[in-house]
Amino acid sequence: MAPRPLVAGNWKMNGSRQSTRALVAALKEAATQPSRAEVLICPPTPLLAEAADALEGVGIELGAQDCHAAAGGAHTGDVAAEMLADLGCSYVIVGHSERRTDHGESDTVVRAKAEAAHRADLSAIVCLGETEVERDADETLAVVGRQLAGSLPEGATPENTVVAYEPVWAIGTGRTPNEGEISVVHRELRDRLVERFGDAGRDFRLLYGGSVKPDNAVAIMKLRNVDGGLIGGASLKAEDFWPIVEAC
Ligand code: PGA
Repeated sequence: MAPRPLVAGNWKMNGSRQSTRALVAALKEAATQPSRAEVLICPPTPLLAEAADALEGVGIELGAQDCHAAAGGAHTGDVAAEMLADLGCSYVIVGHSERRTDHGESDTVVRAKAEAAHRADLSAIVCLGETEVERDADETLAVVGRQLAGSLPEGATPENTVVAYEPVWAIGTGRTPNEGEISVVHRELRDRLVERFGDAGRDFRLLYGGSVKPDNAVAIMKLRNVDGGLIGGASLKAEDFWPIVEAC
């Protein structure tokens, strides 16, 4: 049986306490029927407490966008996975391409962050994806394979780890790979997970992310080995986000 889909909204560095309240209220209104998909929102760190409060009883989970590998200590400006768990998070995104690029995060760093998530009983959403140059050079499968091997810790299980394939060139651009291209990558990721984790590899959720919108969500979400989406821009408006949830 295919795993229960997950639709995760990555708000990135957007929002205020007031807009968080308004967006959660709008999601609550949109969610008139229980969805087949598990739904998650990942606001910026300063808005997590506000979101946790607003989400009380709504049936939508809370996640963060990053964490530090350490449980505490002299790391100015950083946030421990344990702190996120304490705030009510159940997920944390690690290795998003914007972190890999803006903060020079390597697979080794991403893997340590995923381990930190597990230590704090959070599920890690581990992101990977090729750049446009890598795709043009026909290196996509090699790149995502290397990132998967390097970023997933030994203790990864389908319960504590989700993999999100996000081609860097598709993020925030309005461009997406075609359905065949997405299928090829997700198939490759599935095969590698089974190779490494045996039968459990079939149960890891594989999200697609990068310019998912209400008008392309149905086509993408119905693909084999696509078990949900990581949604950026379209997660900031309930009227865009909810149709994507329903597409699952
Ligand atoms: P996008 O972002 O949906 O705005 O392309 C996706 C992401 O970066 O997670």
